[in-house]
Amino acid sequence: MSNAISRTGVQERSRRATGAWILPWAMAAACLLVAAIARADSPPPDSAAAALPAEDGYRLWLRYVPLQGQWLARYRAAATELVGTDTSPTLRAARAELLRGLSGMLRAKPRTSDAVTRDGAIVFGTPGSSALVRSLHLDLDRMGAEGYLIRTVTVRARTITVIAANSDIGVLYGAFGFLRLLQTRQPIGHLDIASRPMIGRRVLDHWDNLDDSVERGFAGDSLWQWPELPDYLSPRYTDYARACASVGINGTVLNNVNATPDILEPLYLAKVAALAGVLRTYGVKVYLAVPFSVPMTLGGLKTADPLDPHVQAWWSAKVDEIYRDIPDFGGLVMKANSEGQPGPQDYGRTQAQGADVLARALAPHHGILMWRAFVYSMSAKSEDRAKQAYDTFKPLDGRFADNALVQVKNGPMDFQPREPIHPLFGAMPRTNLMLELEVSKEYLGQRTSFAYLGPLFQEVLRTDTWARGEGSTVARVIDGSLYGERLTAIAGVSNIGSDRNWCGSIFNQANWYVFGRLAWDPQLSAAAIAREWVQMTFTSDPAFVEPVVKMMMSSREAVVDYMTPLGLVSQMAANTHFGPAPWVAPGPGMPPDWSNTYYSHAFADGIGYDRTASGSDAVADYAPHLAAEFADPAACPDDLLLWFHHLPWDYRMRSGRTLWDSLVLHYDRGVGWVKQARATWSTLAPYVDPQRYRMTADFFAIEERDAEWWRDASIAYFQSISHRPLPPGAAPPPDTLRHYEAFCVPYNEGAVGQTACPPADVSVPR
Ligand code: GCU
Repeated sequence: MSNAISRTGVQERSRRATGAWILPWAMAAACLLVAAIARADSPPPDSAAAALPAEDGYRLWLRYVPLQGQWLARYRAAATELVGTDTSPTLRAARAELLRGLSGMLRAKPRTSDAVTRDGAIVFGTPGSSALVRSLHLDLDRMGAEGYLIRTVTVRARTITVIAANSDIGVLYGAFGFLRLLQTRQPIGHLDIASRPMIGRRVLDHWDNLDDSVERGFAGDSLWQWPELPDYLSPRYTDYARACASVGINGTVLNNVNATPDILEPLYLAKVAALAGVLRTYGVKVYLAVPFSVPMTLGGLKTADPLDPHVQAWWSAKVDEIYRDIPDFGGLVMKANSEGQPGPQDYGRTQAQGADVLARALAPHHGILMWRAFVYSMSAKSEDRAKQAYDTFKPLDGRFADNALVQVKNGPMDFQPREPIHPLFGAMPRTNLMLELEVSKEYLGQRTSFAYLGPLFQEVLRTDTWARGEGSTVARVIDGSLYGERLTAIAGVSNIGSDRNWCGSIFNQANWYVFGRLAWDPQLSAAAIAREWVQMTFTSDPAFVEPVVKMMMSSREAVVDYMTPLGLVSQMAANTHFGPAPWVAPGPGMPPDWSNTYYSHAFADGIGYDRTASGSDAVADYAPHLAAEFADPAACPDDLLLWFHHLPWDYRMRSGRTLWDSLVLHYDRGVGWVKQARATWSTLAPYVDPQRYRMTADFFAIEERDAEWWRDASIAYFQSISHRPLPPGAAPPPDTLRHYEAFCVPYNEGAVGQTACPPADVSVPR
């Protein structure tokens, strides 16, 4: 595993680079002091970690630990009995969850009853399944198919809480919503909550292969035990579905976008049907990714040309076959003409023509197609990568079927720690456009970094495209409110695997959680979501919650700082995308945009990619207001500067520092953050069980070494080009550039069969 190697490699360096850390350590010490004072004021009820039973993270945020003191008394009085029918598997799941949650938190199983017999009854159901809910004449019309109401009402002189929805799945979502109130210590005496999802399809994309590996997966093997399916259904599938439903995720793409044809073989479709059977109860539909050429590879046809009638007939028949086994199958995902995958352009057809054949096959079954816009040329001479998807898809606006969505990554490059928004957002008013985020931290430190992605997702969703004037945010493009689309969707590349703790680390669970919560309501705040996750996953004690939420909220910026500050992107090792490799230059036969020097454009005269009118003019792909801001270095946000501009090393930043000094200080700041966060975490041991405390503490140690490795290697490389002295206070890299270039982490769990060490035919300058 990569960590072991990076640990040893980077450890050596960190011991030698002590001079630069006086400030962060002083800050950390101050932090320790503050935390110690806070603890003296309010000792946690369960005061020592050793006293808390070890937890392995399996229960995620659905732990339902026993409450104490005033909350126990208050909630017991407001949750005395459960009243609801269980006429469907989903309603049974809602009842089971309420029983599980309330029994756990209230330390006693609430009684179940057919009628309200006392104050504090919890009534759940739909007007169809419950005469009591029906008799309340709630304003459920506005709640849609999945929304719910939680309301305190008086029924025959009894004060009760009703959890009501138009559908059984809405009731289940409401049950989770109600439990969350208790888990986060909200008052529940006078409730009037109405919640409905803003986006229709809220989907996790599992890049799981049928051989058990997971592309860009950092949490063990595939969650799906393909060999044993359909005969053995692991209990984990139910727990996965519960967790998804608890945050409102209602779809799962079971397999890798780099799909193999086998997934459409009857053998595998039977396995897919078995999984669908488990997930259905929790409102999670299954979807599959399929290769474009499958009519040839599986169907034996001579072509996959979408205009060929045999190809069209093949897709129709195959889709019919899927729906025979899985009547509520969600639909298909396609990666075409992307990174060497076949696609319609191979036959001189457009992406829309390619999509049409699948969309038409799916339409009679109400299935949808998610057609990915991650399309770029593999040729050595191509235009700026930032423009390619825009140029391919923008002219096709209005040509995609009603049941098709164009699935667009958040940025024009590829899930980087920071990139500008993709210019297609807002640019295709007559097309259903969906957002694809990466929950798995492929480019943000993978398994071990602490990074919470809430701020990244929020930044994307809240960015204003200006497509229809001010307020045309990405969130409004994808929730359909800007252009009135009725089919809306969001996808997150899953970070879930076979690891006992599901996500490779405890804090990676927060990224699954925040994806689901923002998919339900993109207007929620990443900080509020972090807070509820911390309360549910650990404790509600403010002495723990406050510092941890603060760390979470600043953690992604720290990764940006120590990996790719000021708008740099893609400086990671080739293939594994782990660790720094800013020196990777295009090799023979390699697409130039698979190198890192392509993005940094660092030369003696300066650094950064000129995407203004004097360069590739990618700025012109944005709406005029945004284009004007990006095009002017004085107006362009600092954190996107080098994405849009090539600037002299001595360029004066807003801060008054030179660009070079600023770059170096960002790397340093990132490392300083990790050191400080690690020190803060070490003060929090009393609030966490020893197992989860230890894993997080050890992962912080790994991140600290990795951050130093990033900083030192990056500074060594860029200084060899800028030839500038380091700003005062910055320590020189302890090793030579040659040393960093020679160091590579060959293997990595998310990059099966690939290595980070450059093959002989890739030139590494110097
Ligand atoms: C990234 C990732 C690939 C993946 C691709 C995609 O480039 O590294 O593993 O296949 O995205 O989204 O298709």
